[in-house]
Amino acid sequence: MDYQSLLDNIFDEVNKKKERGKVADYIPELAKIAPHKFGMAFVDETGRLYTCGDAKEQFSIQSISKVLTLSLAFSILGDDLWQRVGVEPSGDPFNHLSLLEQEQGKPRNPLINAGAIVIADILVSHFENPKETLLDFVRKIANDSSISFDESVAISEKETGFRNYAAAYLIKSFGNLENDVDTVLDFYFHQCALRMSCEQLAKVFFIYANRGKCLQNNPYLNVQQVKRINALMLTCGFYDEAGEFAFEVGLPGKSGVGGGIVALLPEQFCIATWSPGLNEKGNSRLGMVALEKLTTKTGLSIF
Ligand code: DON
Repeated sequence: MDYQSLLDNIFDEVNKKKERGKVADYIPELAKIAPHKFGMAFVDETGRLYTCGDAKEQFSIQSISKVLTLSLAFSILGDDLWQRVGVEPSGDPFNHLSLLEQEQGKPRNPLINAGAIVIADILVSHFENPKETLLDFVRKIANDSSISFDESVAISEKETGFRNYAAAYLIKSFGNLENDVDTVLDFYFHQCALRMSCEQLAKVFFIYANRGKCLQNNPYLNVQQVKRINALMLTCGFYDEAGEFAFEVGLPGKSGVGGGIVALLPEQFCIATWSPGLNEKGNSRLGMVALEKLTTKTGLSIF
């Protein structure tokens, strides 16, 4: 298949759209991003890269980072991880607290904010310098040492992330947080503030499309663990829009409020899109439209 023409055609069709959603502004630093940006990067089953638009420009990956921290925690704890966090979709927005109270501090899944905060706690407990460990992990998979945190985004969220403080204190009150709230959230705000381009994201997430084989002697994830992470992306990666994403696109994936989406078809491809305007569920509007076109035009989806 001519993936470059496919990508270029989708880009041209989607980029004409006037209704591009609303840039996230609850993290003030994110509100500064130009809403017209749009890029896509695609990696085929051989690892070959195709790009279009602003695919090389870095942005804040936000919740997409939750898949990466989940992977690290899973590689350390194995299935014991599921004693601290569940594997069911929440059907709620990413920052909701009510289920956490009802279910006594065990978050429904690792991809909502509460679940990612528990994962952050595990990494803070286990590693002497968890931020460096996370950077090493991502840089190694991407084979790119330039990937870093955007300190201004991390600070901006630290000053305004009141719902995350509320979630962390609630989790702590139920005994499911080992470290102090400030330390855990400092790590969490930094993971969300990872700056990456579509190109870098597609290369990193190729590890999930390729079932971990692309990393020689993969010390992190075995095939079964990749299967479980992909299942979580499918059922929980888009919060209360996970059903809609499966219905429209039909791929495991993950979004972030910086406007990025990654999605993949096991053994076939991985794609990253970036358009900062979000729909009312907090997922990139143009990204979802582009991915629907990709799977509909090619017939390539898990269904
Ligand atoms: O914790 C937050 O609210 C943000 N740092 C991340 C939220 C996010 O990206 C939700 N995804 N669509």
